[in-house]
Amino acid sequence: MSSAPATSDLVNLTIDGVPVQVRKGTLLVEAAKLIKQEIPVYCYHTKLGPAGLCRVCLVEVEGMPKLQIGCNTPVAEGMVVRTRGESVEKGRAMVLELLLVNHPLDCPICDKGGECDLQDYAMAYGRGSSDLADPKTSKPKAVDLGPTIVLDEERCVVCQRCVRFDDLIAGERQLVLKDRGHRDMIATATGDPYRHNFTGNVTELCPVGALTSKTYRFKSRPWDLKRTETSCTQCSVGCRMNVDVRRETVLRTMSVEGDDAVSDWWLCDRGRYNVGYVDAPGRITQPLLRRDGTFVQIGWDDAFAIWAKAIRAALDARGPESIAALGGGRLTNEEAYLLARSMRELGAKNIDWRTGRQRQATPGSSGGTLLDLERAGAIVTVGESPAQLAPVMDLRVRKAVRHGARYIRVASHEAPPTMRHHDVPDVAAAAAAIPANVTRVALIWDGVDSTLARAAFAALERDGRTLLTYISGEQGNARGAEAMGVLPFSGPGYHVADTGRDFDGICADALAGKIDVLSIFGANPALNAADGARVRGALQAVGFLVVTELFMTETAKMATLVLPAAGAFEKSGSIVNLAGDVLPTAAALAPPGGVLSDFEIVAGLARALEIALPDTEEIERATIAAAAALPVGIAFGDERFAGTAKEPALGDGLRLRVTHHAFAGGGTLANDERIATLRPLPEAAFSRADAERLGIRTGDYVDLVGPGGTMHDLLAEVRESLAPGEVVTIAGLADAPANALAERSRVRVENVRHADALVEA
Ligand code: SF4
Ligand code: SF4
Ligand code: FES
Repeated sequence: MSSAPATSDLVNLTIDGVPVQVRKGTLLVEAAKLIKQEIPVYCYHTKLGPAGLCRVCLVEVEGMPKLQIGCNTPVAEGMVVRTRGESVEKGRAMVLELLLVNHPLDCPICDKGGECDLQDYAMAYGRGSSDLADPKTSKPKAVDLGPTIVLDEERCVVCQRCVRFDDLIAGERQLVLKDRGHRDMIATATGDPYRHNFTGNVTELCPVGALTSKTYRFKSRPWDLKRTETSCTQCSVGCRMNVDVRRETVLRTMSVEGDDAVSDWWLCDRGRYNVGYVDAPGRITQPLLRRDGTFVQIGWDDAFAIWAKAIRAALDARGPESIAALGGGRLTNEEAYLLARSMRELGAKNIDWRTGRQRQATPGSSGGTLLDLERAGAIVTVGESPAQLAPVMDLRVRKAVRHGARYIRVASHEAPPTMRHHDVPDVAAAAAAIPANVTRVALIWDGVDSTLARAAFAALERDGRTLLTYISGEQGNARGAEAMGVLPFSGPGYHVADTGRDFDGICADALAGKIDVLSIFGANPALNAADGARVRGALQAVGFLVVTELFMTETAKMATLVLPAAGAFEKSGSIVNLAGDVLPTAAALAPPGGVLSDFEIVAGLARALEIALPDTEEIERATIAAAAALPVGIAFGDERFAGTAKEPALGDGLRLRVTHHAFAGGGTLANDERIATLRPLPEAAFSRADAERLGIRTGDYVDLVGPGGTMHDLLAEVRESLAPGEVVTIAGLADAPANALAERSRVRVENVRHADALVEA
């Protein structure tokens, strides 16, 4: 929380006759907002700062001979400002007239119509006619800027917000202003498609209809949309977002202005564009029971009865050790709480949300906020960086680096980021790379290798230094699942519970024939677990496998009973993000007929089992208390979380490592055709030394062969930053699952096909 400013930091002025007191240095455009007086802007944006390009923000300041631009004039003691009046309006009218010289009058077919600043300001300040009679310059109307965005060059008012976002916030510097004068246009510097994880933000920043999203163009008018504010659950950041729905279809999501604490007003492209799955044809809308090798549709009452019967039989025959539940990182807090509670009411302790690579989500008492992160003097990442796992967190890192922080990546196997960074081989080198005068250090871990996390914490901890920790991880509400007790060793609020089997132990028990009923809630371990062959074997060995899902995922296809579950936009509740913020989620639309939320599914099972559950108010109270509980006694890289999984045996060959990609995944990502062009190709990255030894060049195709299987047709990349002895591929691609090969095992390269030979063929 920011502290109240000292009186000496405050300045008194009047705006339109109203006295205002603001911090020194505040710009007039922001000071006017405090009295709900709007100064029009095009090039200025609160998060981008002033550019002084458009001059629509003219205001009158007493004692100054000419009109001033409100976006770049700081307040001063005793200042008297007028944002209205004849001279101001005359000045703005002139600016608008010039802007409209070449702007087409195609509002009726423009996607921005109804929420366009040019339209609004022209109505408020424009003259309605012009003395300029020359024909308008015509320019291309639908320039394909890349996989997400279309540019209408005629509509561009050259405010350069898009260019400045790409430079200042995303740090990508792909967009530029080409040419000058009436020929100026927005384009990518290289001519390549505009593509990175944050492109959609420019469609919101564009004050006119020049930049539009391909997924939303010509779909709706803003007044026909029903808007719901919620939190994105696609990753652990939990960005606040507006969901716009028309006719039971999610048409778009938009950022929430003013959300400084979490999203910093931005969304990543995954959160923004992965919405088409909601009404995808592959949605499961009825319970499916496997009979004689095929799925048959059954009703919900039968589904609950069959499931409960299987659990009762297992409890009677072999006791609570023979049942297990997995999942929680994609549930709401309320759902996760109910799941954990129901399992423990049955005496069952085999429960875990950790069905992928991530071991831990709660960093303990050293955990920092996202605002703390941008104020760090040095940021160290161990494991995978947040770039693909938690993209908007990566924007905070970029912000910190812009403000002078040193960004240090330990033994990174990822492609280098487009920001200043230092790659170091180990945590000792990371500690040495932190400047001596830095007193606030942020340590970000992907939650996978607990030993590495502990070593990094020990190496970076120092007297006189604040060490803030973060776990980015793989699943949206992983931290909420831990707080709600979806762990084998702790219950709601991190209270220690009788220890059951973790995910790895449950798989081991299943392979030993000891698990009769396994219920999986919104998780896809067959695709996402590190050792796919072993996990798929375990799932096959379970007597009765239940999966709640939206689609027939790799895991659902193996189930005995598949139950259709509501998606994130179809249910309300709360989540806990990676920084410990408890964030509300709100249903933007109803689920399809026949689909229940995981809350309703667990409650239905509990009824069928005659388990006494608390009422809704009590669940809400318990959930709030558990979410707010301090994670006392949890260490960063805690050994209790580390689990029992063993390193695969080493042999000859390259060590396999995986990275995530924001658009690689099963379920909602694989079942959204609107984002098909954003999915990455299966690839394999090699160090320069290995590539030369193996005769591989960027653009070739290779196969990787290892214990458990083969990955075919991977596009090779020679990555200069990669250490020899490693090969990196992308996790979670449904068409080329990296977990066909056990992660960190040794693999060999086969079947190298050179790009030039393929072209000739
Ligand atoms: S495309 Fe939009 S945001 Fe970019 S310069 Fe033009 S008007 Fe401004
Ligand atoms: S960073 Fe994460 S929470 Fe934010 S919009 Fe992207 S996917 Fe959603
Ligand atoms: S908003 Fe002030 S110059 Fe553009």
